[in-house]
Amino acid sequence: MDFHRLHPDPATIDGAELLGDLRLHERAHAERPWVVTNFATTADGRATIEGRSGAIGDDGDMEVFRRLRTQVDALLIGTRTLGIERYGRAVRRPELRAEREALGLAPEPLVATVSRSGELPLDIPLFQEPGADVVVFAPSETPEPDCPACVTLVRLDPAELTLTSALRHLRAERHVRSLLCEGGPTLMGALLHEGLVDELFLTLAPQLAGGGTGPTMSSGPALAAPAGLELVWALERGGSLYLRYAVRRG
Ligand SMILES: NC(=O)c1ccc[n+]([C@@H]2O[C@H](COP(=O)([O-])OP(=O)(O)OC[C@H]3O[C@@H](n4cnc5c(N)ncnc54)[C@H](OP(=O)(O)O)[C@@H]3O)[C@@H](O)[C@H]2O)c1
Repeated sequence: MDFHRLHPDPATIDGAELLGDLRLHERAHAERPWVVTNFATTADGRATIEGRSGAIGDDGDMEVFRRLRTQVDALLIGTRTLGIERYGRAVRRPELRAEREALGLAPEPLVATVSRSGELPLDIPLFQEPGADVVVFAPSETPEPDCPACVTLVRLDPAELTLTSALRHLRAERHVRSLLCEGGPTLMGALLHEGLVDELFLTLAPQLAGGGTGPTMSSGPALAAPAGLELVWALERGGSLYLRYAVRRG
């Protein structure tokens, strides 16, 4: 699928080529994975329409969404997003699984989630798939999930139940070098607060949602100081903008 690259070097470029070998794992930090996030918002910044994200992105967004999943060792998803978006297996298509294997990755990424309540949406397809590999970080008293998926429950004391601890565990114990967070806004806000986001992929859809109460890309308290971003690329397709930003450090 073709995209118009606006920055840098304007050109027409194939999405599979551009997003097919990002080598994110080569950027892994010693203590945690390289963390990229992927969101789609309307031009007025809304992350949902009638409570879901599906109406925001078009087929170009779906292409970016699918391709990014071929590039990482693990996904990180909030429990509410898992439930509302009814997550299933992360990479199903044989050709995409083959692309991952050609890059030296497992056929599909590990899926990680974090919960303070310990309440998981066990009825979603992901937890009902015997082949799915999921890691859940949850409080000490959380019972073992009773579901067909292969779920590793990492129990942590409330003071230890941070995203920093979760990412350190994934790096050290599961060898996760690159991680893609697909939201939602609560999880994104927490990642930002703990200074754990390295890059942001943002689809800006040519729509206005209006209103003033829907979630934006991140929720929770504001950062003490805004995090600066550096534009890595800007693509256009069908009126949507696809922006890749690196988070400035220091
Ligand atoms: N436009 C987009 O690109 C996009 C992307 C993703 C999602 N969405 C939309 O966003 C909405 C869901 O987002 P959301 O903000 O309500 O929820 P969310 O971020 O998906 O999940 C929030 C939950 O994750 C757990 N959690 C988050 N931060 C944590 C932390 N630091 N420590 C421990 N647990 C933590 C908590 O689970 P417990 O409650 O279990 O403690 C919390 O309730 C949906 O409507 C979805 O459609 C949009």
